Amino acid sequence: MATLRIEGGRPLAGTVSPSGSKTAALAAVAAALLLPGTSVIENVPAIRDMAVMEAILRHLGVPHEPTGARWVIDGSRLGSWRVPPELAKHIRGGLLLLAPLLARFGRAEVGLPGGCVVGPRPIDLHVKGLTLLGAEIRVEHGAIVAEAPRGLAGREVYLDFPSVGATLQLLLAGVAARGCTVIHHAAKEPEVVDLAMFLARAGARITGAGTDQVRVEGGMPLQGVVHGLLPDRIEAGTYLLAGAATGGRVRVSGVIVEHLRAVLAKLAEAGVQVETEPGLVEVSAPGPLQALEVTALPYPGFPTDLHPPFAAVLTRAEGLSTIIDVVFANRFAYVEEFRRLGARVTVESGTVLIHGVPALQGAEVWAQDVRSAAALLIAGLAARGQTHLHGAEHLRRGYAEFESKWTALGARVTWED
Ligand code: EPU
Repeated sequence: MATLRIEGGRPLAGTVSPSGSKTAALAAVAAALLLPGTSVIENVPAIRDMAVMEAILRHLGVPHEPTGARWVIDGSRLGSWRVPPELAKHIRGGLLLLAPLLARFGRAEVGLPGGCVVGPRPIDLHVKGLTLLGAEIRVEHGAIVAEAPRGLAGREVYLDFPSVGATLQLLLAGVAARGCTVIHHAAKEPEVVDLAMFLARAGARITGAGTDQVRVEGGMPLQGVVHGLLPDRIEAGTYLLAGAATGGRVRVSGVIVEHLRAVLAKLAEAGVQVETEPGLVEVSAPGPLQALEVTALPYPGFPTDLHPPFAAVLTRAEGLSTIIDVVFANRFAYVEEFRRLGARVTVESGTVLIHGVPALQGAEVWAQDVRSAAALLIAGLAARGQTHLHGAEHLRRGYAEFESKWTALGARVTWED
């Protein structure tokens, strides 16, 4: 377990840019395996999930060259349809390889996924969707085994919840299937649109990505593409929230402002000054903040991944704030840890209640996943004195170039081991 020492109590100030989106990067690698040609993915974030994905490519025998943020992947030769559990268990994104491996081999075996501890993470929507498209799926020895010897066939699929992962999976499967696939109640997240753009460049016919009904005409001839990933809106939002929580002034450049709309609206409602230009957001929070109600929802609602970091901001807002998370209803791993820092925070009937306090105090805290680690980092930066954040290695899963970016904002952070 790695520990980060945080010297808190100083307003952050400076300019920083997010790397490419984690979710989009994982989906793009899966898409590259669908194409019988060479793809170039640009703006790939240097995070741990991508290091695991690279190890999976090596295991599958896929010729590839990850040169910094530019990955070249030759999808013409895949050596195996098996992603072993010891690799798959580290990330949720490995699940997305089911569709391309099924399409290429007529069978796929992917170890059950791991990823962040944010409550139960079922895979039923992936399984139901692929089954409707003609796959036979079972779980055997810790792996998902899927077979479609006669190939996949397009169908109408209704998702019980607009799952990002299941929508990405069905886009990939729909492109490979014969005929037309329609995804109803699809996720509208920008990362879904990014994958649809990647696939469209490769020759796929997709309409409606970014709406709740996506239509895919499958079976089109596909070719390799060059695709630049969209900026990571969650990483960008984390810097803005750190600026707000520490009473500082933080600029984030290289963003798509529209993707941060819900977060910026909530920051403004709390009394944070928010200024935007195309590609740029600046927040400053010199004065007191007001309590408010937040509900994390599928896009374009407030993002679940910024729920814990936003809670850090609300620990200093005057009055009672509440947070409900509709996407991950049990995303509370940070709550106990915030209390160690002197925050007044409880969970009642699935709602987080935060009574603002004048200041947090540094303490020892433990992170269990990337976003609770980000929340604790922000809280530690806002707190008076020193915080030791244990489990800080989780930050490597979502925050590329961690040291240089946070130092550029004036954060005083040191790895202790
Ligand atoms: N769900 C099901 N069945 C499924 C799939 C999902 O019930 O088969 C439920 C989930 O349990 C959850 C909800 O649907 O309650 C939404 O899950 P979704 O499928 O949208 O999430 P995901 O694709 O597994 C990605 C990101 C998450 C992010 C969510 C929501 C990756 C690797 N993960 O997960 O990122 O929170 O979308 O935006 O891209 C993170 O970065 O900290 C993180 C957890």
